[in-house]
Amino acid sequence: MTVNPIKITDTTFRDAHQSLMATRLRIEDMEPIAAQMDEAGFHSAEVWGGATFDATTRFLAEDPWERLRTFKNLMPKTPLMMLLRGQSLVGYRTYADDVVESFVDRSADNGIDIFRVFDALNYVPNLEVAAKAVKKNGKHLQMAICYTVTEEGRLGGSIYNLDYFVSKARNFLELGADSICLKDMGGLMAPYDAVELVTALKEFLPVPLQLHLHYTSGMASMTALKAIESGVDVIDTALSPLALRTSQPAVEPLIVALRNSDRATGLDLDKMLEMGDYLESMLPKYKAELETPRAAVIDAKVLRHQIPGGMSSNLVSQLREADALDKLDDVLKEIPRTRADLGFPPLVTPMSQMVGSQSVSNVLFGRYTMISEPVKEYFRGNFGTPPSAVDEDLKAKIVEQDGGNEREAPVRPGAILDPEMDSAREAVNDITSNIDDVLIYALYPQTGLRFLKIKHGIEPVPDEMKPKTDDDQPSTSPSHTPPTDMSANARRFNVYVQGQRFEVVVDPVDGANVVTLSSRIPASVSPTPPAAASVPSGSLVTGDAAALLSPMPGMLVSIAVEIGQTVSAGETVLILEAMKMQNSLPAPIAGTVKELPVAPGAQVAKDDVLAIIAP
Ligand code: CO
Repeated sequence: MTVNPIKITDTTFRDAHQSLMATRLRIEDMEPIAAQMDEAGFHSAEVWGGATFDATTRFLAEDPWERLRTFKNLMPKTPLMMLLRGQSLVGYRTYADDVVESFVDRSADNGIDIFRVFDALNYVPNLEVAAKAVKKNGKHLQMAICYTVTEEGRLGGSIYNLDYFVSKARNFLELGADSICLKDMGGLMAPYDAVELVTALKEFLPVPLQLHLHYTSGMASMTALKAIESGVDVIDTALSPLALRTSQPAVEPLIVALRNSDRATGLDLDKMLEMGDYLESMLPKYKAELETPRAAVIDAKVLRHQIPGGMSSNLVSQLREADALDKLDDVLKEIPRTRADLGFPPLVTPMSQMVGSQSVSNVLFGRYTMISEPVKEYFRGNFGTPPSAVDEDLKAKIVEQDGGNEREAPVRPGAILDPEMDSAREAVNDITSNIDDVLIYALYPQTGLRFLKIKHGIEPVPDEMKPKTDDDQPSTSPSHTPPTDMSANARRFNVYVQGQRFEVVVDPVDGANVVTLSSRIPASVSPTPPAAASVPSGSLVTGDAAALLSPMPGMLVSIAVEIGQTVSAGETVLILEAMKMQNSLPAPIAGTVKELPVAPGAQVAKDDVLAIIAP
């Protein structure tokens, strides 16, 4: 009966856990079914790229390259796919061409067969270097068009209409695409819009068309079916324990739905169920990461706010860290406004993080009081041409901060950057000369360097980066070995929960970096709320001094001033990396810098004092 089987790409090992559990799945928890996955008959498996590179180095103390090699060894038959953000690779900014070329070379050498390459703005020049590098390595170049809509929520309108997607597909073919993918990261593609899009693209495309959906809004299973009926060649799904919600549609119902049709998958349901059983038995230890406060499996509001899955879970964790989870609704309302100010970019990485973080800071500190460095770069044209007009007042504000000089936007943002690989090699040469290590540093100079120190034994693996155990219960055994980095201040306590005794060790965090307000501001002066509306929150102003407080947890990247220096209000005092963005924190008042209690490179908590300025 089957004449044109639909091909399936499994995303369980990458996008599925990126969407549902902030990319925290460790390789050792995927290895047990990797060989079964290889035998299952998938067209390809997406196992790498996207946020996995950042998450492994930042949170898991796991070498991302080693992860890829492990998959390659365990899955020799199934083509392995990665998601690559064009000139932004697996990072959040535009990298120099030599970094792009080297990263693609090493990804190919370490095991990637299919490169799914996209640009957040669908800006063609940003894809040129990556596309050329993939072709040079003789690998499959899949070029993905980010699918998005504006407020009306459907295909059409003045920006994201059928002509837009057709012309992007033609542009991408010219770059040598071996296949085209429609990438609907927000779960916004409606079933009958998929019919229109797939029909129009299949009419002229000489290469396969793949569809990548997120279930978020609840439409994806319907959209998948209509796209399959309309002739799409390949579709992305995940095993059911990591499907639906903000992830991909589940593979199991699709197998049955298409059975005996001319598009039957050819996949064996029982094999899927077996692998699903494994995931069900393994995932409980990730309960915290998988936890959601919502009753609904779908997020019907996404049809209005258009925020992709990974972005929603990031927003929640950012707000939780900033102790402002109650502001979530405000942030969801702010996002469309911020997006409009930026000319309606598709909400996909890095644009989704930029719009998301800027919206968070707009809500927490006032609109554009604090503009992240990437958003400034975007307005300078260094991410490419926005899909439509940006807010002119905001642009003028950024030009003013640049000293009044409007910079000329480059045709291809990567072209204006000097090569970066040599200085990256230099920066880590006392730790490593391994090219894959150098690339980790080139991609993420702060968190990457920290990872390399951990990897090479210069720093111990922090507790929070250590693997979860199957039994996440506290140990009742008194012989349980305490962590080696425990301080002399640690105290043991017995804790009784429902009659059961648990031994708990409490080790106070080193107080050296924590500066209490009372010890820094004269006790005679009681803190009063800021008088002027222009003073950003995140600072505490008293009669005698103003403390610049860390608005959220992060890492102090650099300090722009010195003790004794006079600053004007609004002048950049320091750069804080928070929410994966570098943010310049302005002086709350004009005055003299009295104290800078935190050194660059240090992790800071929300409300830590970063500077004291006296008028
Ligand atoms: Co996705």
